[in-house]
Amino acid sequence: TSVALLSRAGEVKSLVSVNQDDSHRPFGGVVPEIASRRHTENLLVLVDQMMKDSEVAWSEVTGIAVTTRPGLIGSLLVGLVSAKTLSLVHGIPFVGVNHIEGHLLAPLLKDASYGPPVGFDFPYLGLAVSGGHTHLFMVEGPTHYRLLGQTMDDAAGEAFDKFAKMAGLGFPGGVRVDQTSKTGSPVKFNFPRGLMGDGSFNFSFSGLKTAAQRQLAGMAPDEIQAALPDLCASFQEAIVDVLVHKLIEAAKVTGAKRWTVTGGVSANSRLREAVQDAAKEAGALLALPPLRYCTDNAAMIALAGLKRLELGETSPQDLAPKAQALATDWVE
Ligand code: KG4
Ligand code: ZN
Repeated sequence: TSVALLSRAGEVKSLVSVNQDDSHRPFGGVVPEIASRRHTENLLVLVDQMMKDSEVAWSEVTGIAVTTRPGLIGSLLVGLVSAKTLSLVHGIPFVGVNHIEGHLLAPLLKDASYGPPVGFDFPYLGLAVSGGHTHLFMVEGPTHYRLLGQTMDDAAGEAFDKFAKMAGLGFPGGVRVDQTSKTGSPVKFNFPRGLMGDGSFNFSFSGLKTAAQRQLAGMAPDEIQAALPDLCASFQEAIVDVLVHKLIEAAKVTGAKRWTVTGGVSANSRLREAVQDAAKEAGALLALPPLRYCTDNAAMIALAGLKRLELGETSPQDLAPKAQALATDWVE
């Protein structure tokens, strides 16, 4: 659950979030019903706290942005109903935005210690890698996104999480794989790189998942334990290799000289290192937002909403949340 307050210039005045991983950990993954309950308990408390701490009056707020898609309907509904209510009570417009749009605009956020690199602007290549998405876009301008490719099966974050679960690393898995890989060898195990040379900008991580499953099934528990750093480093390298390869290829084809990598998986330290090297090699300007803007956060949603409100868009009170993106969210 996350709420943020942005200035009209896109500066983050406040960002407060509550993590609910502890509630889901006993189940080894996100339980939708628990997720929406926690949002119900936390959301308005966070809004009140943020308004108090930032010393901003509701009369100064000119708009409200809320995630309405894609995602778990129950969770989306809690946010949307709250945004509609605040909009009615305070007489200010609200606008529903696509979660991925938030990730794609995150590199443009500004605060006291972060801002996009000098010269970073539209259009840019945006790789959004999270627990639910692995989407490569040409970000042409606010509200203009061209999808170049996406995963055909699992998302990169999902692959990290499933591997972590198989290897007994717990939940949430991505960050644990990242940490455990630090002392391991990325070439110890040879995991498959799905769709690596197919010429498309699509991704596939299900073959990798199966290969890892087979590898682990052939090892004794103490063997797995001893090899965990190597297993994690090799598994991680297979994902990073494909992500960076497709980004480089897309940059060649489109001529894009400005790149961003965003979404929870962009917090991965090996991916950040590899993409920085690749951008240097290609002479591209890379915007890698700090971790607070990579993983899910309300500041990126506020920015996406701000851009839409600036273009005159507002949402009606009968707007419904959607599990999937809308056909109008991007062009293919
Ligand atoms: O964007 P995000 O916070 O939520 C979604 O929109 O899904 O992304 C969450 C995903 C999870 O799958 C998590 O395991 C992964 O991002 N993740 C990482 C790291 N930190 C978070 N994956 C690899 N390495 C990390 N350091
Ligand atoms: Zn996300």
